[in-house]
Amino acid sequence: MHQDVKEILYTQEQLAARVTELGRDISRDYKGESVVLVGVLKGAIVFFTDLARAIDDTVNVSFDFISCSSYGNSTTSTGVIRILKDLDRSVEGKHVLVVEDIVDTGTTLHYLLDNLRARGAKSVCLAALLNKPDRRKMDVHVDYVGFVIPDYFVVGYGLDFAERYRHLPYIGILKEEMYQD
Ligand code: PRP
Ligand code: MN
Ligand code: MG
Repeated sequence: MHQDVKEILYTQEQLAARVTELGRDISRDYKGESVVLVGVLKGAIVFFTDLARAIDDTVNVSFDFISCSSYGNSTTSTGVIRILKDLDRSVEGKHVLVVEDIVDTGTTLHYLLDNLRARGAKSVCLAALLNKPDRRKMDVHVDYVGFVIPDYFVVGYGLDFAERYRHLPYIGILKEEMYQD
């Protein structure tokens, strides 16, 4: 375990098992349809690549990415959303499944889901590995959720603190001394 991690919340094996289940649910719901998986850079990238490979060949899947950041090098949301990199292709008339690592205050996803609906997508749904409802400020409906977690500061499997720890293959709780002055 990384020395800055206090405790492992979900092991690599637990994550893989849950992602497989989510892939089955998505395969069932989108069977015979085309869907654009929209990955929210950068946190979603690890979950995105595993989830995409858990969706079976009855679904016609394409990939696109958006970078929509609400945090700087801080543990708390600033509430300010910036699109740093937009989608490459139009989602008008398409089924969109947004793939996120975590819904925390809901600021990012509330903005992003509204934004994609306003582009005329046929449907916009959300798959989030982690949901932290205790911190919610903006209402967000999560269609596919991996795990509901308490207000722990978690890193790994894509989730960072100041751009670190994204590569850890598990979800860990960061030691308090790493983000307290
Ligand atoms: C994190 C996380 C979500 C968002 C959730 O992204 O990956 O996208 O914050 O927080 P919210 O519900 O309070 O909006 P971040 O802005 O840190 O960028 P990153 O994905 O590049 O780490
Ligand atoms: Mn993010
Ligand atoms: Mg981040």
